[in-house]
Amino acid sequence: MSLNKKDIIEILKSSDDELFRKADEVRKEYKGDFVHLRGLIEFTNICRCNCFYCGLRAENKELERYRLSEDEILNCVKNAVNMGYKTVVLQGGEDKYYTRDKICNLIEKIKNYDVAVTLSIGERSFEDYKAFKASGADRYLLRIETTDKELYKQLHPNMDFEHRKKCLYELKELGYETGTGCIVGLPNQSIEALADDILFFKELDADMVGVGPLIPHPNTPLANAKKDNFNLALRVMAVIRLILKDINIPATTAMETLHPNGRIIALKSGANVVMPNMTDTKYRAKYEIYPDKICINESPDKCAICIKSKIESIGRKISTSKGFRKDNY
Ligand code: 5AD
Ligand code: SF4
Ligand code: FES
Repeated sequence: MSLNKKDIIEILKSSDDELFRKADEVRKEYKGDFVHLRGLIEFTNICRCNCFYCGLRAENKELERYRLSEDEILNCVKNAVNMGYKTVVLQGGEDKYYTRDKICNLIEKIKNYDVAVTLSIGERSFEDYKAFKASGADRYLLRIETTDKELYKQLHPNMDFEHRKKCLYELKELGYETGTGCIVGLPNQSIEALADDILFFKELDADMVGVGPLIPHPNTPLANAKKDNFNLALRVMAVIRLILKDINIPATTAMETLHPNGRIIALKSGANVVMPNMTDTKYRAKYEIYPDKICINESPDKCAICIKSKIESIGRKISTSKGFRKDNY
């Protein structure tokens, strides 16, 4: 479907539920009924950045910081493999402790377990990205967050929009399956800006796009921002499915945080991926990107059982493949 900016704006502004039915149809035609599970390992909550919306921002002194040891990380990987997950996602703040060599070493050890490795560790040099790829990393997640340059600047002190964009094109060039995405509901974010975000994902030809509603965090400058962003985030996600038909789209944790059935609703509105949390229960509450995050007191095992049964209850199947963009099983 070739939707231009005007069409996208119109769809986002309307309240017609037909959008979700159409997105679900496209998902079924291009991705089948399989849902890919990606085991998420939140391995460090230390971050040098100060994104206005995020609870991990360096200036949030209330948060107790942690880093998993290599053994703890590899234990998470073993658990993920035992649960049948075919991908692990190493996600963390922009933590300088993790030098190029440390990350490469970690990737090499994880690759012994025959899983796809996704990195989500922020902006790094081209040489770093190249080395991680050579060590076996398969995918990289780096949300652009917003393509509204003025808004980007306001929300990201000491960061540069053009640099972030450059990182994404470098990741693509290096052959990563490249994931990006945005936050929906940022203060002063217009519908036009969200349409531009979607057109940017198309221009990049992103392999994965994750969209989540803003959930205001009390210890951040956006503490008083509005919270009712679920529906618009779902609409943005569904439009992305109409335009980038064969990509992987997660039902995000932030959606479930704002709506008790958010991930299942997302899976019925275009999404085909879920990222269950693999982090040990004792660290979960500390990876507080936003408040009221789901599964804070649950264990990795419990989340695996829970999410698998929810997925099967709507007639979908757990994929047994690594779930690359081209895979349809
Ligand atoms: N609400 C929703 N999403 C957030 N993120 C960070 N802070 C928040 C928040 N308060 C998202 C960002 C980041 C991802 C890991 O979490 O998009 O890329
Ligand atoms: Fe750090 Fe990412 Fe949070 Fe920004 S969104 S403060 S880069 S963890
Ligand atoms: Fe964690 Fe349901 S996914 S308890």
